[in-house]
Amino acid sequence: MSNFHIKHLEEYFQVYRKSVRNPEAFWEEIAEEHFLWRKKWDKVLTWDFNTPEIKWFEGAKLNITENCLDRHMLSRGNKTALIFEPNSPDEKAQHFSYKQLYEKVCKMANVLKSQGVKKGDRVCVYLPMIPELTISVLACARIGAIHSVVFAGFSASAIASRIKDSDCKIVITSDGSFRGKKVIDLKSIVDQALEECPNVSKVLVVKRTHQPIEITKGRDLWLEPLLKEAYPECAPEIMDAEDPLFILYTSGSTGSPKGMLHTTAGYMVYTAYTFKNIFQYKETDVYWCTADIGWITGHSYIIYGPLCNGATTVMFEGVPSYPDFSRFWQIIEKHKISQFYTAPTAIRALAKEGVNFLENCNLSTLKVIGTVGEPINEEAWHWYDDNVGQNKAPIVDTWFQTETGGIMISPIPFVTPTKPTYATLPFIGVQLALMDHQGEELKGNQVNGRLAIKFPWPSMARTIWGNHKRYKETYFSTYKNMYFTGDGALRDEVGYYRITGRVDDVIIVSGHNLGTAPIEDAINEHPAVAESAIVGFPHNIKGNALYGYVILKDTGESRRQDNLKNEINQIITEQIGPIAKLDKIQFTSGLPKTRSGKIMRRILRKIAEKDTSNLGDISTLLNPECVQDIIDNVV
Ligand code: PRX
Repeated sequence: MSNFHIKHLEEYFQVYRKSVRNPEAFWEEIAEEHFLWRKKWDKVLTWDFNTPEIKWFEGAKLNITENCLDRHMLSRGNKTALIFEPNSPDEKAQHFSYKQLYEKVCKMANVLKSQGVKKGDRVCVYLPMIPELTISVLACARIGAIHSVVFAGFSASAIASRIKDSDCKIVITSDGSFRGKKVIDLKSIVDQALEECPNVSKVLVVKRTHQPIEITKGRDLWLEPLLKEAYPECAPEIMDAEDPLFILYTSGSTGSPKGMLHTTAGYMVYTAYTFKNIFQYKETDVYWCTADIGWITGHSYIIYGPLCNGATTVMFEGVPSYPDFSRFWQIIEKHKISQFYTAPTAIRALAKEGVNFLENCNLSTLKVIGTVGEPINEEAWHWYDDNVGQNKAPIVDTWFQTETGGIMISPIPFVTPTKPTYATLPFIGVQLALMDHQGEELKGNQVNGRLAIKFPWPSMARTIWGNHKRYKETYFSTYKNMYFTGDGALRDEVGYYRITGRVDDVIIVSGHNLGTAPIEDAINEHPAVAESAIVGFPHNIKGNALYGYVILKDTGESRRQDNLKNEINQIITEQIGPIAKLDKIQFTSGLPKTRSGKIMRRILRKIAEKDTSNLGDISTLLNPECVQDIIDNVV
């Protein structure tokens, strides 16, 4: 029998050793005993980090939705699979049993088929956190279509570039979305995006806000009547282990967003196995992850991981501050949540409001609480531990990436002793390395370096959609024979890992991954802007906020700088979305550059952090004189 469910520390070490000594045998056992296969694999693993090529469970046949839905029908048909908690507490929560979810997924799958969607087609899903989002994702997987979920906070041009990159022919969206007091007109954002996307032939629209929308004849269809007519059974498309399951875009440090491609079998096995252990999920638990399904955390730990385990998973449409800052705690009490998983940004924002919002809520059902998406500072960790976990429910600080598909570093609750701000130990099968500046691996403990991974794991992204070269260059060219994460980390005296943050030009703002390049490109589109550079600076709620250094063109025209700042943020909102807006903008006449013309962001970062004690040797710069000027005018 495999150790699907790890229960004590010794067992963790023993299973970890086994998973590293013979990964193929280890993962084969896990896959064999806990999943539904139409045909078993011929080979567990083929890999080469040079090409790079990674295949898990080659030759196996399956459908992931049979694992998420069909196989629970007999044992858990009436168990709640999904709880939908609407934005407004006055609207009733909805409970979907496994059987009901199965039927809804089959109906949606049949609608997609009737609209001509076939295996391998890309479907763009641009929906708020409503049940139809989960249903659409699973319906795509049911028929072998590749879902590309675009976070519903992204702008029209961000959607358009993602639709075009993966050539989606169909979009699923809604008339609008509710977020706190706001009603957002999603459909018109899609309409605007589609002006640039002539290949999209169908838009399926969920009715959510009931606001009037424009319907383009022949292209837009309301989903409701189609679903009503649809047959509640749909035979699953039988997929190869390595057939694509989804594309999910993530920011890169340069260029356009990267469409990370995840495939079927390895992703399923790893997300299900990590979910079971990292949340210690038990049959009667109610699990809630507050992430949006538009991010990898939502894909892996709202949908696939929980449903593969027959769990009850909660989706929340709203925001933590509406109607007031007790909303999260109210929901925990209302649905008797056992596992609660959120982001440090949310914890910091809620901590700032004070404990009075928690006081009247019963949080005693919580067994495990988690964080993800960015480093958690010590103060927020303790606040979470004291007030939410009440020093009983351990915190799992889980580190992973869109690219890794599943959690890679995390405590296993009740197994791994936690340590504030540390993600602690690698998960089973994960072989980490810390690298120095020369590209040598740092051995032993108490070292600080760049985080790399030495061996494939089942849920790793297999390529960047349409750009395998970029996949190789971004992840496999920094260190020989290793995957490079882009993060820095330290390993303490007992081998625990603490993630120190990005070491490339990606900035994590409120847990959202933002590349500097696309933001700079957006700013540079303003007619008055000659050049710009973005860096992050510490922010006590968002973790990091964005600081923009902007050089204006000498147009002779005098304009109010306040207006310019608003216009710059407006362009960013249009091109990317409000999450990428700048907190501070400094107009400057120069940017520090190396002799080869590269902007020295390290210096700009220090200045934005207001730490100019150690700027290093600036005499080698092309234009050292601009540095003092920037320091003198820091915002
Ligand atoms: O820098 C790390 C940070 O988020 C990055 C990945 O972002 P994304 O692909 O959007 O996925 C976020 C959700 C998994 C990482 O490279 N990050 C993620 N989790 C943690 C973290 N930083 C510190 N601690 C974490 N637990």
